[in-house]
Amino acid sequence: MKTVLITGVAGGIGSAIADVFHQAGWHVIGVDRRQAELPSVTDFILADISDPIASQHIFDTVKEKVGTLDALVNNAAVQVCKPLVETTIEEWDSVMDANLRAVFLAVKYAFPLMKDNGGAIVNIGSVHAVATSANIAAYAASKGALLALTRALAIELTTQNIRVNTVLPGAVDTPMLHAGLSRGHVEGDNTYELVRALGKKHVIGRVGQPHEIGQAVLFLADEERSSFVTGQALVVDGGATARLSTE
Ligand code: NAI
Repeated sequence: MKTVLITGVAGGIGSAIADVFHQAGWHVIGVDRRQAELPSVTDFILADISDPIASQHIFDTVKEKVGTLDALVNNAAVQVCKPLVETTIEEWDSVMDANLRAVFLAVKYAFPLMKDNGGAIVNIGSVHAVATSANIAAYAASKGALLALTRALAIELTTQNIRVNTVLPGAVDTPMLHAGLSRGHVEGDNTYELVRALGKKHVIGRVGQPHEIGQAVLFLADEERSSFVTGQALVVDGGATARLSTE
């Protein structure tokens, strides 16, 4: 049985990724700083992944329990929605710590568990890495950096047969999306109306569901399905970035 470790597993997309891997027969290890009981997660580790000691401890635990890791899914992230000049230094650092530093740490400490047998690293980025809007600069910057990190890692880790890719979700119906609606980029009186209005802006006419991201992650993690794919960004956004905003 193959083993995957998923960060941010208690969140909307993380728990769906866990379900998709579990249904595909993988052993799922989940990490989050929020306690959660999830049927698809065999081993849950409560930890803040941006803390170097906690991160090392996570992968020491995996080494003791399982020995190796076939896939690492860097999914956990935080979003701060406000103008850059009003963003506090603590808020900027909290975004970079969760969204970028934690990925560096996870790859560093997962590497000993992957280097002998190869494997896949799948980062969860965002369409904000390639096109963005007002009041989300720190998040967009962290996701842009994640794309650059993906390419660099793909090159550095290929000799150990580790492929590295990033999924770029568009709007997906989760708590993070609901919180981000406060940016005022869609009109409506309640969350249901706001999500519906946002959905209508997509080529496909709706926002995404978390399991639709999970399927893309499984594709990139599974050596049998994506063995010739590395260093890439797979956009899963209902066509949002396909349409010119000027037309
Ligand atoms: P969410 O807010 O539902 O879940 C995020 C999870 O990450 C939470 O359970 C949180 O506790 C955990 N987390 C955050 N920082 C952590 C840390 N330092 N240590 C441990 N756990 C931590 O968010 P959602 O929507 O499920 O997002 C998952 C991923 O998808 C993120 O990388 C996000 O940037 C990305 N994404 C989401 C989109 C959306 O519309 N929902 C769109 C584009 C990208």
